[in-house]
Amino acid sequence: MSMKKSLFVGLAALALSACGGSQQGAAGGDPCGGADPCGGDPCSADPCGGDPCGAAAEGVGPLGVGAGYESWTALATDKWKSKTHGGRMVLTYVNDVGAEAYKTEDAEIPVGTVIVKPSWESDGAAGPVFVMEKRADDYDPDNENWYYSLYWPEVAPKWQKRLGKAVYWESPSDKVNYCINCHENYDRYLGGIPDEVKAY
Ligand code: HEC
Repeated sequence: MSMKKSLFVGLAALALSACGGSQQGAAGGDPCGGADPCGGDPCSADPCGGDPCGAAAEGVGPLGVGAGYESWTALATDKWKSKTHGGRMVLTYVNDVGAEAYKTEDAEIPVGTVIVKPSWESDGAAGPVFVMEKRADDYDPDNENWYYSLYWPEVAPKWQKRLGKAVYWESPSDKVNYCINCHENYDRYLGGIPDEVKAY
């Protein structure tokens, strides 16, 4: 093997050990040492001092689940500041499948309901888009069968060191466990809309 090639193979192995798989603990090169790096909101506080894999993510495709949400039912009359989503300004939209159920306290949320929460940074730039989708009964029965994603195709400069240039985390990635850990505390796993801006 030539020098060049062995150097390349060595680097590839290093890259794999740093980023190869979401389940690994400290031994796998996780700088967070096996603790849940996202036990808090990775977007509101520094979860562990840096995402070694995020920097590699140069781009993500278009939004999948939740695409087209701008034309869905807006559940709030105005943006509000969401402490639980990084202190960002947010709105919430729901598709036709779930609109009536969302607005009706205690109604069961039908399978196929998609709820999208776009957000904005303090300077008005686009923040992450947070998505939940109600899936079929066998999807994740322990957690009321919700799918989650965080989509941020153009990460704000001040977050790039930690998150890279683009982020698309979605179930079943461990990256969204922190969503579940908080949402499970709410009825129907829904945090709801603050009274001041409720559109219904
Ligand atoms: C610390 C708690 C917490 C965390 C972490 C959290 N959420 Fe939320 N979420 C809430 C609360 C409370 C609301 C409603 C009030 C608000 O948005 O300010 C909400 C609202 C939402 C909504 C609108 C539907 C609803 O519940 O009424 C979506 C969609 C959502 N969150 C997705 C996510 C996703 C995806 C993640 C992870 C990437 C996440 N959330 C992380 C607490 C949390």
